[in-house]
Amino acid sequence: MRIAVFPGSFDPVTVGHLDLIQRASVMFDKVVIGVLNNSAKKPFCTVEQKMEMLKLSTQDISNVEIESFDGLLVDFVEKKNAVAVIRGIRNSMDFEYELPLAQANHKLNANADTIFLATRPEHSYISSSAVRELIKYKADIKDMVPEPVYRFVMDEFAY
Ligand code: PNS
Repeated sequence: MRIAVFPGSFDPVTVGHLDLIQRASVMFDKVVIGVLNNSAKKPFCTVEQKMEMLKLSTQDISNVEIESFDGLLVDFVEKKNAVAVIRGIRNSMDFEYELPLAQANHKLNANADTIFLATRPEHSYISSSAVRELIKYKADIKDMVPEPVYRFVMDEFAY
């Protein structure tokens, strides 16, 4: 079974993430979504909320699993017996940032390769940080997040 890990902060998950998960799920037998549990960072959503939103957003994709992890990504990848890490690339800045991380991760675990998927052009402006910023000003984020995230934001922030 060929397993890939799709890691991230998912704070919150966006339609860009979801599209990449969907595309990766066709390429691999199983995609494990690894939600970083970073206690040092004050997140917008709790890990439980992130996982619930990911679960609701991916319920139509049968070969997806959602788990949280802390520590090094390579250790999580090894624990899951994955052969690949999937990362989305929106622009050259993403590539500059991601390339050394992919190289370091490969140095640490040569059994797994990072695969970069080009995001759809219509998603290239979408990021979790932009979504968080827009929520602060109660702006319309409907096209940027999956429906369960939109509902969560509407409930939580009383738009
Ligand atoms: O969604 P993000 O915030 O871009 O995801 C970043 C993530 C979780 C992939 C990255 O921060 C990560 O892998 N963190 C775990 C710690 C680690 O392994 N760092 C790499 C050192 S080379």
